[in-house]
Amino acid sequence: MSSPAPIITVNPVPPKHIGIIMDGNGRWAAAKNLPRLEGHRRGAERLIETIDSCIDLGVNTLTVFAFSAENWKRPPDEVSGLFKLGEWILRAHLARLERRNVRLRVIGELSALPEFVRKPLEDVIESSKNNTAFNLVVALNYGARQEIVSAAQALAADALAGRIKPEEITWDVLESHLQTSGMPDPDLIIRTSGEFRLSNFLLLQSAYAEIVFASVFWPDFDKQQLQLALTEYSKRERRFGKTREQIQTPAQA
Ligand code: IPE
Ligand code: IPE
Ligand code: MG
Repeated sequence: MSSPAPIITVNPVPPKHIGIIMDGNGRWAAAKNLPRLEGHRRGAERLIETIDSCIDLGVNTLTVFAFSAENWKRPPDEVSGLFKLGEWILRAHLARLERRNVRLRVIGELSALPEFVRKPLEDVIESSKNNTAFNLVVALNYGARQEIVSAAQALAADALAGRIKPEEITWDVLESHLQTSGMPDPDLIIRTSGEFRLSNFLLLQSAYAEIVFASVFWPDFDKQQLQLALTEYSKRERRFGKTREQIQTPAQA
């Protein structure tokens, strides 16, 4: 009888694209008797460090969930505090992002954001568009279902106008109408704070992503935590529908 395959590092290729659901700022603050916004501030600083760590670790794209389409349901003070924080963190770290040759993109409905944060974001999206070392994608007022509805509406309009036949709508065509069009799919999705759900984040793009749930709150997610997530990822065998044998002997795949 053959013995089971030994547990080895089955996936030596590090993830090129990581998505992070940065969750737990509020509970981090509550545990320290601090206001929720202080948790968000520490979370924003953690994001800046995480960008540096990702660059150092050879990751090419980081997509972070910063504000969901459903987060408007939060108390107005928290919502406006989050946008002020976003504007401040962008201003405070702009030179650093530029120095590290980071390209900024946003997915989500930017038009609904207050002008004081929308305008500087649009400026940086434009000024960083030729930066090549690293892609930072911020999901702001983003929801995967809303993204899919927009794509469906655009495709229906194209079909009605005779620009496309329904049977010509393939995955590639649908994908080209998503806000992430042209970006590689995430290889790894990390969610912090011990919650085991995706909360409307990149639902289609993460069809074959590996998912790692970290128990720490986002403000405590340091480089060591990131490395733990990468180690966990390295043990995952990504089969994409194939058999283990096909994956292990790619020549026959
Ligand atoms: C994540 O932390 C940040 C945003 C959703 C904006 P939370 O604010 O959700 O923190 P918890 O989950 O309430 O602890
Ligand atoms: C998801 O976190 C959104 C962000 C991290 C920005 P939430 O805290 O909003 O998610 P739920 O409501 O717990 O699912
Ligand atoms: Mg939360």
